[in-house]
Amino acid sequence: MPALVLLGAQWGDEGKGKATDLLGGSVDYVVRYQGGNNAGHTVVVGDQKYALHLLPSGILSPGCTPVIGNGVVVDPSVLLSELSGLNERGVDTSKLLISGNAHIITPYNVTVDKVTERFLGKRKIGTTGRGIGPTYADKINRVGIRVQDLYDESILTQKVEAALDAKNQILTKLYNRRAIAVEQVVGELLGYAEKLRPYVADTVLVLNQALEAGKVVLFEGGQGTLLDIDHGTYPFVTSSNPTAGGACTGAGVGPTKISRVIGILKAYTTRVGSGPFPTELLDEDGEALRRIGGERGVTTGRDRRCGWFDAVIARYATRVNGLTDFFLTKLDVLTGWEQIPVCVAYEIDGKRVEELPYSQTDFHHAKPVYEYLPGWQENITKAKTFADLPKNAQNYVKALEDMSGAPISAIGVGPGRDETIEINSFL
Ligand code: GDP
Ligand code: IMO
Ligand code: MG
Repeated sequence: MPALVLLGAQWGDEGKGKATDLLGGSVDYVVRYQGGNNAGHTVVVGDQKYALHLLPSGILSPGCTPVIGNGVVVDPSVLLSELSGLNERGVDTSKLLISGNAHIITPYNVTVDKVTERFLGKRKIGTTGRGIGPTYADKINRVGIRVQDLYDESILTQKVEAALDAKNQILTKLYNRRAIAVEQVVGELLGYAEKLRPYVADTVLVLNQALEAGKVVLFEGGQGTLLDIDHGTYPFVTSSNPTAGGACTGAGVGPTKISRVIGILKAYTTRVGSGPFPTELLDEDGEALRRIGGERGVTTGRDRRCGWFDAVIARYATRVNGLTDFFLTKLDVLTGWEQIPVCVAYEIDGKRVEELPYSQTDFHHAKPVYEYLPGWQENITKAKTFADLPKNAQNYVKALEDMSGAPISAIGVGPGRDETIEINSFL
């Protein structure tokens, strides 16, 4: 069982941080392979709550080596403050490894993210404003800055110049902003170089050697399947590949090494930012899910949009990721409803559709077709086994499993590490 991928099956915030932390105690490496500090992963250990943005959630497990892979975009100031925040709380972060090929989120990338969103007006994506999209754009445009560039001042200066040439034209002439000085950016970036040096490594080599030696590597996705730049609800997506294939490119590990792909699936649905969301609830049920589920963004503090479970999305996630298992989270949040609607298909322009439409127009027109499952009133947060769950909760889980196309191997019944029902072992 060498390499596992753990990723979001919906629009992010499914509880990946908790699931990663749970497995972190039994794996040797936890690797972030895409995204950046747009992610907000919550981990609750005893009475301690941690919000991780850039660091893999395995950082809280002492035996585990956390890795930031080449596919991640790194804001050095955020990374350093996250590290010092954890150090102040007694967490040892000295094992962290950062790929020298990871791209750096520069101050101008953050500026471009914010001004672009402002100019899009009502057409905005609702980004986290952390510079993610512009940094990946620079990477693809071959004007990006990589972590390794911090160690060669001459190359760094040339690259910042190349990146700012066009950007300053756009900032000053189109957006009416001040130009950004090359020396200022270079100076700031060089200031991070020595602080980051102890962590920088050839992570591709490290991970492949670890796998050859029989170590267990867990790849932790940020965001979720429907925020994937290729497979998500484009253009209302993030600018990377959270889907399973992203683990290969974002960490430099071949697909033949990956034996298990675990989709983290919330027992209902949430989304932050703009874009279509067929089961969204704009009524008191949506309000109740938000309140009971604590559905507020870890990164931006925005209220999350809430809706019922969508089996069409779950089936799609199974397909595009080749999921072997689901980890169903937040089942406890659904306690108290008399009956719980579950979206089993869409109605699009009068026709029943079972699978996610590839056409954006069709998805915008999709209306949920609901089945109503009987709810339960009992508190389930102390349940340790599947049999401890009330019959109706068991049936809800079984129904979701049947509709979603992969076995549900664990169930979250609360935010804590131990508030989990393990059905099939992941390792
Ligand atoms: P991530 O981005 O996928 O790591 O998820 P977030 O941390 O953004 O959001 C998930 C939230 O749900 C966090 O506040 C978790 O502590 C919480 N959580 C995770 N699993 C469960 C669960 O099974 N039950 C409850 N009630 N909360 C959970
Ligand atoms: P985790 O890892 C939920 C959303 C933003 C926006 C879109 C693009 O905690 O699940 P970006 O800043 O990435 O360019 O924004 O993606 N988004 C997330 N939504 N959870 C996340 O991360 C997200 N990361 C980005 O709200 O709609
Ligand atoms: Mg989150």
